[in-house]
Amino acid sequence: MIDSGVGGLSVLREIHALLPDTTIQYIADTAWCPYGVRSAEEIRDRTSALTELLIKRGAELIVIACNSATIAAIEALRAQFPVPFIGMEPGVKPAAALTKTDTIGVLATELSLKGDKFLHLVSTHARHLRVITQPCPKFVELVEAGTLEGELVESAIIEYTHDMMAASADVLILGCSHYPFLRPALENSLPEHIQLIDTGSAIARRAAKLKPQKTTSPSISILTTGSPEKINSLLPKLTPGLSAECQPLSIS
Ligand code: DGL
Repeated sequence: MIDSGVGGLSVLREIHALLPDTTIQYIADTAWCPYGVRSAEEIRDRTSALTELLIKRGAELIVIACNSATIAAIEALRAQFPVPFIGMEPGVKPAAALTKTDTIGVLATELSLKGDKFLHLVSTHARHLRVITQPCPKFVELVEAGTLEGELVESAIIEYTHDMMAASADVLILGCSHYPFLRPALENSLPEHIQLIDTGSAIARRAAKLKPQKTTSPSISILTTGSPEKINSLLPKLTPGLSAECQPLSIS
């Protein structure tokens, strides 16, 4: 699994819940976080190097647990490597099925929202709807710092959801793997009728369909290009009950 940081752990916890007998190696590319403001080319190069490393370490299925990296790189990665890939995209289709006000809000990174892929997703599933988009860079910073509640989180939520709430959106898409960690805070701050969509469990179901190998001694390794100490201090909050320790990873 690959993400720019700890966000993809929101997907890891879903995959581990469904496939507890599967060994998972997760790379948090913290030295390069955030991905959401980088160029697609940079992300392609970076995720290609990380994929190569995971395959050398025995990975047979790669989950790009990051919407931004999926949008920027998954096609190039599929063309480059002979293993199956699962990527993430904002849940526009389920949101379109749920809205009663014909208005949905999409919270995602700048990179995820600005490309043709996102326009295509909207024109395929939500052409008839009002779609209000909002990049949320502070959400990624807050989650990376382990700040999942409190004043800073609340003011970021008010800032980022203001326009979509004013437009009567009733379904909000958490279109970045970091954001599900703020779900409790979002649920507290937003009116009760607002529905939040994230795609972590759908990714886990897709992974299960590909039937990754079961092992008798499954393990979870978390690697980071940043500070392992920092991630280790966040793990009890982000993935309670999961026994994993973060190790350093250096790539050239
Ligand atoms: N977690 C990532 C995503 O799903 C990227 C966040 C970032 O690094 O900007 O888009």
